[in-house]
Amino acid sequence: MAEVEIKNLCKDFGKVRAVIDLNLHVKDREMVSFLGPSGCGKTTSLRMVGGLERPTSGQIFLGGKDVTLTPPKDRHIAMVFETYALYPRKTVFENMAFPLRIRKFSNDEIKAKVLEAAKILDIEELLNRGIRQLSGGQRQRVAMGRAIVRKPALFLMDEPLSHLDAKLRTHMRGELKRLQKDLETTMIYVTHDQLEAMSMADRIAVMNLGVLQQLGTPDQIFNHPVNEFVAGFVGDPPMNFIDGQYIEDSGKPYFRHDAFKLELPEKTAIEIREKCPHGSLRIGIRPSYFNLHQEKPDISSIPAEVFISEPLGEILIIDFLLEKKIIKVATSPDVRANMGETMWLSFDFAKAHLFDAESGVSII
Ligand SMILES: Nc1ncnc2c1ncn2[C@@H]1O[C@H](COP(=O)(O)OP(=O)(O)OP(=O)(O)O)[C@@H](O)[C@H]1O
Ligand SMILES: [Mg+2]
Repeated sequence: MAEVEIKNLCKDFGKVRAVIDLNLHVKDREMVSFLGPSGCGKTTSLRMVGGLERPTSGQIFLGGKDVTLTPPKDRHIAMVFETYALYPRKTVFENMAFPLRIRKFSNDEIKAKVLEAAKILDIEELLNRGIRQLSGGQRQRVAMGRAIVRKPALFLMDEPLSHLDAKLRTHMRGELKRLQKDLETTMIYVTHDQLEAMSMADRIAVMNLGVLQQLGTPDQIFNHPVNEFVAGFVGDPPMNFIDGQYIEDSGKPYFRHDAFKLELPEKTAIEIREKCPHGSLRIGIRPSYFNLHQEKPDISSIPAEVFISEPLGEILIIDFLLEKKIIKVATSPDVRANMGETMWLSFDFAKAHLFDAESGVSII
């Protein structure tokens, strides 16, 4: 069993509060990704699980056992960090064989295990090379190879693909996920790359400023973000936010912006009155959820000026200006949008998100 239980974990570096009251349960054989912007506390959290950093307070349990003060070597985990810490004087083969040698595996077993790992990572032809003769991406794969040969119950990985080129990274994403499922190991995977987290993780822990914002499946994180931070962090191009006010007019509830007025469903109005009594709202719409019109369809559509279009092959991204704010719309490449022209944007309210504009907390 390699479940991980993190309880009330805090880490301060002097005045810097790197991790604040983290509570998290990683199930046996689950892959959880720590996702968030630079400096949000991902590496520090992972290092505490690995035993490389002593928590200021809180506890860590591995397989039900309190390991908060256990040295790293006794935690039975394999770690891969962005800085690969390989032995520069040893060959690739010997670097990968090292964890097996110290565990007294036979030469035949070592050879078989190293070859198997090298094959998965596509570095078989590098086995006899010295570490100094490798590129950054190759070194990273060797570091990963050294971790996987042991088939540990728990993997901790910190941006292990960051030095690979885009194509190799996509390939390795799939390989790593399959590997983790095949080996039936538990994995915590740190990344600031939302695509990596979304495509690989069973669940994602989104962090910001040392605080866990949301723990959920990729679908929950993408479709039901608990707050504006999560909503804006996941998705590319990011979600658009438009501020407005809750009003009632002739008994009907509306989201009112200077440029448009959107009638709200009564059940949404009830939620707003309960959760956001001040009525300052922020609506969130993903770029692909807009429909574009040349003529104004109704009062709920948003008039916006074409600022610039970026053709990306399969899709076209159009930046619109709505009162000096950019709204990004992802549409089909055959849409014609001339710079400076006004178009109307509409969207299905069921696909939009609504936040309290003051706290950023999701209302629906
Ligand atoms: N040894 C240290 N001494 C002082 N401050 C530290 C130390 N390690 C990390 N910090 C600070 O703690 C905070 C969290 O750092 P951490 O490395 O965990 O972030 P991260 O989420 O991994 O970021 P990145 O994506 O850039 O790797 C940052 O403000 C960082 O400057
Ligand atoms: Mg980091």
